Amino acid sequence: MRILFIGDVVGSPGRDMVKEYLPKLKEKYRPTITIINGENAASGKGINEKIYRQFLEMGAQVVTLGNHAWDKKEIFDFIDKAKYLVRPANFPSEVPGTGIVYLKVNQDEVAVINLQGRTFLPAIDCPFKKADELIAEAKERTPIIFVDFHAEVTSEKQAMGWYLDGRVTAVVGTHTHVQTADERILPEGTAYLTDAGMTGPYDGILGVDREAVIKRFLTSLPVRFEVSTGGRTQLSGVVIDVDKKTGRATKIQRVRINDDQPHFS
Ligand SMILES: [Fe+2]
Repeated sequence: MRILFIGDVVGSPGRDMVKEYLPKLKEKYRPTITIINGENAASGKGINEKIYRQFLEMGAQVVTLGNHAWDKKEIFDFIDKAKYLVRPANFPSEVPGTGIVYLKVNQDEVAVINLQGRTFLPAIDCPFKKADELIAEAKERTPIIFVDFHAEVTSEKQAMGWYLDGRVTAVVGTHTHVQTADERILPEGTAYLTDAGMTGPYDGILGVDREAVIKRFLTSLPVRFEVSTGGRTQLSGVVIDVDKKTGRATKIQRVRINDDQPHFS
């Protein structure tokens, strides 16, 4: 089994990259399932139903979220109907949506969990304890468990990777929008990458128009952040091979497509 994960899709430049390159990535890697982090997919903040459905039509099976999950008010109208949309599991229990989804693929099942870190992000429930709880639940059904850990700091992400080593198939970080080069298989068989990186503008700052971000640093004044448009774009992600009997990862490869690292298929 092979899992393709595409990192934080930012606005229309990100969505256009998915549309253009997901078919090429599928041809090249032949993934069994494709997961997209879509928390920035609607104009850089949040997601709406139309975009969620577009991701499924483009070929994703599951869409994960993060701290911007709630930025588009429409989310509250459709999240409970969206069977393959996963929001961070460690929000309080009365929050709508789910933090784990199960996807049936032929005879197998894949559990996809979304968790959110607590360092430099709003205080929510403990992601580590929530992971324990959800893994115990998932193990009743399948050994194949993918975790998107949406967090700011590398130490918290590494801690999660080591904490879950041998208990899940993969811990892949999202949120920072910058891909890290530390992909590895941990000793007990969990694939780990601190951050998958971002899919969207290549010449902005984390996907935002760079002039606005520079102005903010120069003046410390409030500035309106808009998705950088009209420039070059990039796609970031990761491909993980899985022994489906044990749920252990056997290989992890980063994916990066941009003008400096073009895609050749
Ligand atoms: Fe985020």
